[in-house]
Amino acid sequence: MTVRQVLRLGDPRLRQTSRDVTNFGTPELLAMIADMQDTMAACEGAGLAAPQIGVMRRVMIFGFEKLSRYPDAEPVPETTLINPQFQALDDHYESGWEGCLSVPGMRGLVRRHARIRYRGFDPHGKLIEREADGFHARVFQHEYDHLDGVLYPDRLEDPLKFGFIEELQAAGEL
Ligand code: NI
Repeated sequence: MTVRQVLRLGDPRLRQTSRDVTNFGTPELLAMIADMQDTMAACEGAGLAAPQIGVMRRVMIFGFEKLSRYPDAEPVPETTLINPQFQALDDHYESGWEGCLSVPGMRGLVRRHARIRYRGFDPHGKLIEREADGFHARVFQHEYDHLDGVLYPDRLEDPLKFGFIEELQAAGEL
């Protein structure tokens, strides 16, 4: 298990579309997921997608009990999802501040579906199906975007609602 380097905005690999996983439960897949978990824990992230460590596969992890990076966020179940899919449950959206380990030190206000149903597979190919709302739904949609080469600054609600955490806090935005 290894803490891997997280690619940062500007690295073209973050802009590629990742491919489905075809073989579940392999030592390579399990080792890669363990690296993702170590990396996310070391960075105190809420989630991480495989392309962020340079692996172009449709794998995401997310979840936490408590996080210093997002002190107000409600707990999200610790989840590994492979080949995920989702749909909005209604046409309700919510705006919220997001950060990303690939865009360190910054936050931006992003509109996401408020309630979703998602599905995907665990590392051994077992189906996971859930409904989610709040920060759980937000984290899922953020990580899902990484699998299609989309980063949250692409989805800013307002270019003025984007900046460095300290400056946004000083300005009373965060
Ligand atoms: Ni991210």
